[in-house]
Amino acid sequence: MGLGSDMYRQQILDHYKNPRNYGELEDPTFSHVGENPMCGDEIRIDVDLSEDGDEAVIEAVAFSGDGCAISQAAASMLSSELQGKTVDELLEMDRDDVTELLGVDISPMRVKCAVLAEKVAQDGAEIYRGELDKEKTTTED
Ligand code: FES
Repeated sequence: MGLGSDMYRQQILDHYKNPRNYGELEDPTFSHVGENPMCGDEIRIDVDLSEDGDEAVIEAVAFSGDGCAISQAAASMLSSELQGKTVDELLEMDRDDVTELLGVDISPMRVKCAVLAEKVAQDGAEIYRGELDKEKTTTED
């Protein structure tokens, strides 16, 4: 194992032990809970957007729930990374973005752990958008 990998492992442990943005937002724009189907661990993601609509910018993110070190570290890193991004940018993220944040190769067994927070945030954003679209359609009727 090279030095670089050690450094990333330490970062993962640090985020696991001292998670950033852990908790719940008071009145989030949207909130979503999802689980890793492999183990049943659940993560909740709260997101505050600066405005409604497609160009909405993520102002704040909080997460809570349980999981292994990889899932918790990924959630912690993602919660910081997402601030300032648009909802479109969140929805464009894929598993490589999470692997890059973590800085280590993820074994196929742990991929679902690594992408759990990203998936929950994306599902929450899609549901939120769907509701906005529904509201628009209802108002226009
Ligand atoms: Fe449950 Fe990793 S083992 S999230």
